[in-house]
Amino acid sequence: MDGQRLEGIQLRRNDEAFLDGLGAQRIPDPTTSGDFTRRFDQEAMMDEAINSTRQRVWKKRAKEAPRACLEKVNLLSTRILSFMNDTTLQRAYYARTASLYDEAHLSAAEPEHDFALDLLSGIARAAGYRSFLDVGSGTGRGIARLQREFPQAEIVGIEPVAELREVGHRKGIAPSCLVDGDVTSLNFPDESFDCVFALGVMHHLPNPRRAISEMSRVSRKAIFISDGNNLSCGSIYQRVICHSLTALRLWRSFQFVKNGFKPWKFNEGDGIHYSYSLLNEMTFLRSLGLTLFLFTTRPTGRNPSWTCSHVAIFATKVLKPSL
Ligand SMILES: C[S@@+](CC[C@H](N)C(=O)[O-])C[C@H]1O[C@@H](n2cnc3c(N)ncnc32)[C@H](O)[C@@H]1O
Repeated sequence: MDGQRLEGIQLRRNDEAFLDGLGAQRIPDPTTSGDFTRRFDQEAMMDEAINSTRQRVWKKRAKEAPRACLEKVNLLSTRILSFMNDTTLQRAYYARTASLYDEAHLSAAEPEHDFALDLLSGIARAAGYRSFLDVGSGTGRGIARLQREFPQAEIVGIEPVAELREVGHRKGIAPSCLVDGDVTSLNFPDESFDCVFALGVMHHLPNPRRAISEMSRVSRKAIFISDGNNLSCGSIYQRVICHSLTALRLWRSFQFVKNGFKPWKFNEGDGIHYSYSLLNEMTFLRSLGLTLFLFTTRPTGRNPSWTCSHVAIFATKVLKPSL
């Protein structure tokens, strides 16, 4: 009874949770099937689910007091960096700072990923997702949240840094739910999970598109990514330069020279990272056959590309006509 036959539709009409998910007070009688089909094909349902979730989440967030920023951890000197490769360095950084991760990242500094989780959980509820893979789970922020909200679902996370996984296990995430893994080479068959998601991971990867391809491969229905938008950083002059060099495909070369002939940067709060905008992945995501829904996850001006520091993309795979 998935709402595609008349009996299914009749059941859905009386299902309060389903109506709530759509933000609808009532669904037309199934005998007016012409109207129903036009309005409630799968794409329209996804639009409705997303729009109602977006409104609810923003309303809820507006009521919350802004959280204070903690001082960033300062544990690794940049002077030792040049002798190791970026992946080794990054894992060493997270291993050293694992015990401080939650204090520095979860409780204060990154409301955009909590906001993204609000969106994900609202959409997933409306769309009826039953399995999730969290790639680059860290200490398990996404896993813990979804386990609370979807107690019946299969929820797995992969994280390459053992010290971060251990923090997650100590918080009560079973070892079988938070396992070793690399998002650029996922150890799962095609279409293993309804939804595969990544919170704040892409800007740590030398090749984020490899990761996105892998996420798409193991997802059955959708992928969801929350990350930064470097196109909005700095003064208006810096942004003009950033947008222009990106359009000319020279941004990476510019960064390479600016960073002292290496592609990555280091700071005490975020470890090894790359100048990155999730918005620059939109064409690539579409080339994988995905349909995109874009969200801003921090306050934004009129044009998010220029003014919003963090965005999320929900990309769906399945948009077949429903009847
Ligand atoms: C900023 S943390 C975000 C952690 C978590 N998603 C959260 O919301 O708290 C970035 C994470 O990406 C992980 N990571 C980096 N490279 C990875 C890779 N190739 N595969 C999987 N995870 C990776 C890091 O170990 C780290 O835990």
